[in-house]
This record gives sequence, C-alpha cells and structure tokens, in this order.
Amino acid sequence: MKPIKTLHLHGDAAGIAHAAELLSAGALVALPTETVYGLAADARNDLAVARIFEAKGRPHFNPLIVHLADVSQAKNYVEWTQNAELLAQHFWPGPLTLVLPLKPDHGLSPLVTGGLSTLALRVPAHPVAHQLLQQYNGPLAAPSANPSGKISPTLARHVLEGLSGRIEAVLDGGACPIGLESTIVGLLDQPCLLRPGGVPEEDLEKILGRPLTHHSAADPLNAPGQLGSHYAPGAAVRLNVTQPKPGETLLGFGAVTAPMNLSENGDLIEAAANLFHYLHALDAQNPAGIAVSPIPETGLGRAINDRLRRAAAPRP
Ligand code: TXA
Ligand code: MG
Repeated sequence: MKPIKTLHLHGDAAGIAHAAELLSAGALVALPTETVYGLAADARNDLAVARIFEAKGRPHFNPLIVHLADVSQAKNYVEWTQNAELLAQHFWPGPLTLVLPLKPDHGLSPLVTGGLSTLALRVPAHPVAHQLLQQYNGPLAAPSANPSGKISPTLARHVLEGLSGRIEAVLDGGACPIGLESTIVGLLDQPCLLRPGGVPEEDLEKILGRPLTHHSAADPLNAPGQLGSHYAPGAAVRLNVTQPKPGETLLGFGAVTAPMNLSENGDLIEAAANLFHYLHALDAQNPAGIAVSPIPETGLGRAINDRLRRAAAPRP
C-alpha cells in the first residue's frame, strides 16, 4: 500500500467539518470517543469499509461496530426490542454496544457484519464524536484505531504511532476519559455479555432486573474478535504479581511501590482510564517483562482484567 499523508485535525468546529467532508469522500478518519479512539468510515461504502480492514490488518470475519448520533437512527438498521429500549434509555449515549438482528434493506456494506445476520450498534457520548455523527448524519463503522492485535489508542498520538500513513486523518479530542472499549451486550435471546467494558456488568443487571448470560465459544452469537491474544505490548505480560522478577517492570494497583501505578487509591475508574495509556508508555520503554499487580474482579475491574488476560495470552 502506498503511504498517504495523515492529517492531524483539531477537535473543533473546523476539524469536525473537515472530517465529515473526508468521510463523505470515502476516507478513513480516526475519531475520539469516551472509550478509545475509533477508525471510522462510512458504513454504507464498501470500498471505505474494506480499507478499514486493510489499514488495521484485521481479519475480514471480524465484524465492526456501527456508530450513530442517536437512538432513532438505530431503528433503521436493526429489529428493536424492549430490552434494547431499556438499555438505550439508560446507557446511550455512552460506552455500551448492543447487538441485535439486522433488518433487511439496511443499506450497510456486508463487510461491516462479516456475513452475520446481526449488527453491533453504539451511540457514543464524546462531544467530538457526537458532533461529527450529527453533522455527518450517516452510519460510521469504527473499530478501535489500532493495528489489529495491538494496544487500543486513548490519545491521537497513539493512533498516529500505529496507523500514520495508512489513514487520511485523526481528529484530536485529547485523552479518552473512560479508556476501555464499550461493553457489548447481545440481545437476540437472553441478554448476553459478549465483552466486558465501560459499563459495569452489575449496572446492566440492575436495569434489566436479571443476571446477564455469558457468551461461550459454542454460542451462535459471540464477539468474533474476542479470541486469544490481543492488546499485546512487545514485552511479555505476567498477571497477579506481588513480587516482580529481576528485569520486570511493575504496573501497580493500590498501595504498592511501582514505577507506574494504575491507581494508588485502588480506584477502578481511574485504573481503567490509565490502563492502555500506561501499557503504551511501558511498551515504548521496551522492558524485559511487564508484571501487573492483582486487580479486583468487580465493576470495571472485570473489563480491566479481561484486557490484561488478552495482553498476557500466548502470541500467535
Ligand atoms: O468502545 C468501543 O467499542 C470502540 C469504539 C471505537 O467504539 N470500538 C471497538 O471496536 O472496540 P472493535 O472492532 O475493536 O471491537 C468490536 C468487537 C469485536 O470483538 C467484534 O468481533 C465485535 O465487537 N462485534 C462486532 N459486531 C458484532 C456482532 N454483530 N456480533 C457479535 N460481536 C460483534
Ligand atoms: Mg479493538
């Protein structure tokens, strides 16, 4: 692929207008959301969507999330349900993705769904993403804006480090406040947790009034991109460590002495916001290994541990 010049746009009115123009012309634009930066293209444009896969080195069977400006747009693409309405009322705009049956005549590129009969939808809350979506007034397919398998970006700089020369622009909205991808819930049969993320499972269960089921590899509905090694820094990652080995750098949590601490007070929200940021920073230092303190398996801790387990998984 011939390298292209990647523009670094400000997340102001002029930058947003420029991004919308580029997207209409079939370009790839990375945009800030409250979770992580996404790599957006018009979800109706086959060629633009194909270029997302090419730029990221993403396998084609791994479907994309479609981003919309508001709930009413969602109903154009999927069979809406009571549970969808309930969750959308409480958590949209926000870090929640819903997977629902695709409607016929949806008009989206078939590459978006990777051949599935379901679609993942999200209405982001970040003001820059929201303004862009409102102005664009069309569906934007956007995976996280990192090369496939690498750490997700929480700063425009991370996007440029991974994808510069492969995308037309990045719209800079500063640091992503949540710092972890959206929670994905399947709503085909029983509400099912497909990926832990920015909305804690406990909060969803409170609103639904029942526990979520959990996806297994045998489910017809699973998040195909959820398998094996992911979010992988260059160094080997070891989890639940209280005593790092010589040469290992400690990524701390809570009251431990470490060169980098996700949250000295043991605050999981702060730890989530710091996680990818610190993994990028540690990766740049090229340590012999990264050891991580134990993190409690509650609230956002579940999503943090999910990402850390993938970062530590054996590499392909
Ligand atoms: O916070 C986020 O969700 C970010 C921002 C940019 O919105 N996006 C994101 O996209 O994390 P991505 O592509 O990195 O992860 C999306 C996950 C993948 O694991 C994919 O397999 C799954 O969503 N997915 C997409 N469509 C699906 C569907 N129809 N059924 C089940 N899983 C789906
Ligand atoms: Mg991703």
